[in-house]
Amino acid sequence: FPAENIRNFSIIAHIDHGKSTLADRLLELTNTISQRGSNKQVLDKLKVERERGITVKAQTVSMFYNYKGKEYLLNLIDTPGHVDFSYEVSRSLAACQGTLLLVDAAQGIQAQTVANFYLAFGEGLHIIPVLNKIDLPGSDPERVVKQIESAFELDTSSILKISAKSGINIDTILPSVIENIPSPQGSIQKPFRALLFDSWYDKYVGVVCMLGVVDGVLRKGDKVFSAHSDTKYEITEVGIMHPEQVPTGYLHAGQVGYVVCGMKSASEAYIGDTFHHLNSKVELLPGFQPAQSMVFAGIFPVDTNDFRKLDDNIKKLTLNDASVTVHKETSNALGQGWRLGFLGTLHMDVFRQRLENEYDANIIVTQPTVPYRVVYKDKTTHIIRNPTEFPDSDERAFKVLRLEEPMVLATMIFPEEYMGKMIELCGGRRGEQKDYVYVDDKRVMMKYVLPLAEVVQDFYDELKSRSSGYATFDYEEHGYEESDLVKMSVLLNSKPVDALSVILHRSQVDQVGRDWVKRLKNVIQRQLFDVVIQTALGHKIVARETISALRKNVTAKCYGGDVSRKMKLLQKQKEGKKRMKMIGNVELPQKAFYDFMDKK
Ligand code: GTP
Repeated sequence: FPAENIRNFSIIAHIDHGKSTLADRLLELTNTISQRGSNKQVLDKLKVERERGITVKAQTVSMFYNYKGKEYLLNLIDTPGHVDFSYEVSRSLAACQGTLLLVDAAQGIQAQTVANFYLAFGEGLHIIPVLNKIDLPGSDPERVVKQIESAFELDTSSILKISAKSGINIDTILPSVIENIPSPQGSIQKPFRALLFDSWYDKYVGVVCMLGVVDGVLRKGDKVFSAHSDTKYEITEVGIMHPEQVPTGYLHAGQVGYVVCGMKSASEAYIGDTFHHLNSKVELLPGFQPAQSMVFAGIFPVDTNDFRKLDDNIKKLTLNDASVTVHKETSNALGQGWRLGFLGTLHMDVFRQRLENEYDANIIVTQPTVPYRVVYKDKTTHIIRNPTEFPDSDERAFKVLRLEEPMVLATMIFPEEYMGKMIELCGGRRGEQKDYVYVDDKRVMMKYVLPLAEVVQDFYDELKSRSSGYATFDYEEHGYEESDLVKMSVLLNSKPVDALSVILHRSQVDQVGRDWVKRLKNVIQRQLFDVVIQTALGHKIVARETISALRKNVTAKCYGGDVSRKMKLLQKQKEGKKRMKMIGNVELPQKAFYDFMDKK
């Protein structure tokens, strides 16, 4: 395929606007998959993706299409729609020259439409606006066309109006892609260089890398060099995704395809790396900023005997997702575990669900923490990933200049009647309004700077419930700001439970402190003595509850004299205790943590 007969493009959309459905239709139209008419959503391969109806990992597929007597190779690079994965979106966009901006003709532009538009615009991609779901009785294409004009200043004279579900005007898409999106610019004559933009772990062949070949030709058997790690690899397989891996023996300039080259773990595949031939000097391709973990949480096995198995499973899962960071952690209450870093709370939930679904794991996930920053008087800084790293009062008095928390710039779009409720929600979360504009005569787009910590809790659920589901939301990072932060600890009969300490803004302490003691009271069993549950800031008690003593007499059941039976029961009770964690003199089964974390 000469480069002028290749197009590399993606589809970007707000969640549920029909991206996967459209992708399936295009795959059917080009006979890449057989037509069964159902919504198979071929690109959404992971089980969690199917269950949740969201795309987590970008997938790529190559299609062949005959247009005006010429054969074209069209590479569709899938992108996830959710804010947590905007890093995956931007790296998939780097391998494209253009994109279809898909908008639901009934819902109009939404927060992620705006965010994804700017990502694509920033990459300099050609953007083709497409209205989907025109079959819906509630669709209003004219109104949405106006929104697109006013929000993005895009030319809408040749806007496509389709229904991905019923197939209306589906045949207009690929001609428009060929006519409007530029072909890749590289040259076959130049020395080979390619951008590594995705990778995954395959149980049979090991790590598979997706490459966008910019110049030259790559053949099976070639020795290549990774610019990032200075490592040599031999290409043992090379091919295209059609839709599964199809070996082709080579890839040339302009093509997008996969290679297998003997990498052991996905962390060797550095996203944004440039591959080139040994001994050839090439200009390196602009890579990506590595994804930053925005949410950290401790993960512990419910049954401590599962530690090894879980360790193994976490390793396997992170082979597939290099954006999760992993460190070992030990807790007085929960034993050995891990502190994992995620791109956001959805990313965390998905990871947890994959551990549970794919590996049958039984785990406790602690309260998530955002990366707080300590600025010391000597101007050095430290990122806190775990509340146990929070500076104590001595350190704060003598060494710490200030504490800071990460902020985000949030974009929300909603019908104007919810304005009051949205302002109230953001104000209650320490937000600061930056801007608001009307995207049409009924809908408002509002921007707020908010602490990330407020957003990772239940902000999204609150936004949805206060707007009857109509508001949409997306955010981008917005640096750090000084903040009045404190560490709240939980004490059981005066002994701290490390796994339950949290970093909070001072204004939240009273409410969270009271709420937590109540919830803990509900999950901790009564014991043979009083148990005092307290939340505290240093030595200052915030809230307190008491679980009164239980006169637990296991021998009461035996009538009189059977001594051996009585001994047996006492022995049994002792063994039961061994399986419990002790915090001071208080027995605390892992199950209590599980219940506490789960019932938020
Ligand atoms: P994410 O992968 O989560 O970002 O979602 P998506 O954008 O891929 O949306 P998806 O293709 O899963 O479609 C969401 C819902 O809209 C599904 O229930 C589809 O059946 C439905 N849908 C998609 N296209 C159309 C359409 O043209 N008309 C109608 N009526 N429904 C559609």
